[in-house]
Amino acid sequence: MSAELDILIDKKFLLDLPVYQPGKPIEEVQREHKLKAVIKLASNENALGPSPKAVEAIKQSLKTIHRYPDGGAYYLKHRLAKKLGVGASSIILGNGSDELIVLTLRALIGGGDEVIVATPTFLIYEIAARACGATVVSVPLRHLRYDLPAIRRMVTAKTKIIFLANPDNPTGTYVTKEEVDALLDRLPPHVLVYFDEAYFEFVEERNYPNGLHYLARHPVMVTRSFSKAYGLAGLRIGYGVADARLISCLERLREPFNVNLLAQVAALAALDDHRHLAQTRKLVREGKRYLYRKFQELGLRYIPSATNFVLLDVGRDSHAVSQALLKLGVIVRDMTVWKLHQYLRVTIGTRAENERFVKALKKTLLRSSDKE
Ligand SMILES: Cc1ncc(COP(=O)(O)O)c(C=O)c1O
Repeated sequence: MSAELDILIDKKFLLDLPVYQPGKPIEEVQREHKLKAVIKLASNENALGPSPKAVEAIKQSLKTIHRYPDGGAYYLKHRLAKKLGVGASSIILGNGSDELIVLTLRALIGGGDEVIVATPTFLIYEIAARACGATVVSVPLRHLRYDLPAIRRMVTAKTKIIFLANPDNPTGTYVTKEEVDALLDRLPPHVLVYFDEAYFEFVEERNYPNGLHYLARHPVMVTRSFSKAYGLAGLRIGYGVADARLISCLERLREPFNVNLLAQVAALAALDDHRHLAQTRKLVREGKRYLYRKFQELGLRYIPSATNFVLLDVGRDSHAVSQALLKLGVIVRDMTVWKLHQYLRVTIGTRAENERFVKALKKTLLRSSDKE
């Protein structure tokens, strides 16, 4: 680095932050492995595709993209407010729910404040918290689930935020209503609980707590995404719900047009596409059942999931397995970065994609057993 830049970049800790590694794009694998038919089951996207109503709404709006979007997203906010039973001033929209994680941290964190995250969990919490100068306190998962009593024990006078991915990524596990109630009973009011509910729409378990039900009881932020069940990952849109005073802080921090015009109309249409959502849930439910059965036949341990992906213990170096799968045109997520060295995370695909993945997995495991 030149001397000038060295002076300019005085936040040297930024250079030490881990870089978020997204799932490999299909085109990259096609190019690198000279393959035509590649399937991606690596980023927990919706295998069914986007809501047809959202696509139609986008088509209708294309002729107005020379205009700036509505910075306040009036229609979408009011539609969400009605659906969720909260005031529109308690809702903020983000460029993906990712952006709301960053905005919440920027609003609340000053140097020396502590943020509690589980390890491993969704990586953005730690990266974004450290980027804001927070001290990150990591609490290991217990049997691949959030350990809320252990998290409670780490709370100090400096703790500002506890991040709770519910359900969690990459494990697919969730914390129960009983566990959250017990945490909140003992939590001082200066700590915000951040319920990241990106996979909310997939959860069918009865004892799963809806973060919105805690709004009146404790400072919470609840975020959800249009990237998963609604199939709009490429448009980047998510929403957050919290006390109107916290939301108004975030509103001041965000960029004026953080959610683009097409994302707004698509999300609005997708919320009314009950058929697409029902079909998505069905596909995921049936896909999980199929994969669980196949994993059992292969003698592989998997973690039962409340989401649209499954964490799978391949019982050997998962990096090697994921590389071998890539050569067969199947992209899944190797969990080595999360330090889960024998695990792969696979997104539920269409029936044909799931079958192709299982076939490729069988072939790969057979080959690697032959070598042992
Ligand atoms: C737990 C969790 N939170 C948030 C996100 C971000 O979603 P979005 O696309 O809304 O930014 C993801 C995406 O994978 C996730 O797994």
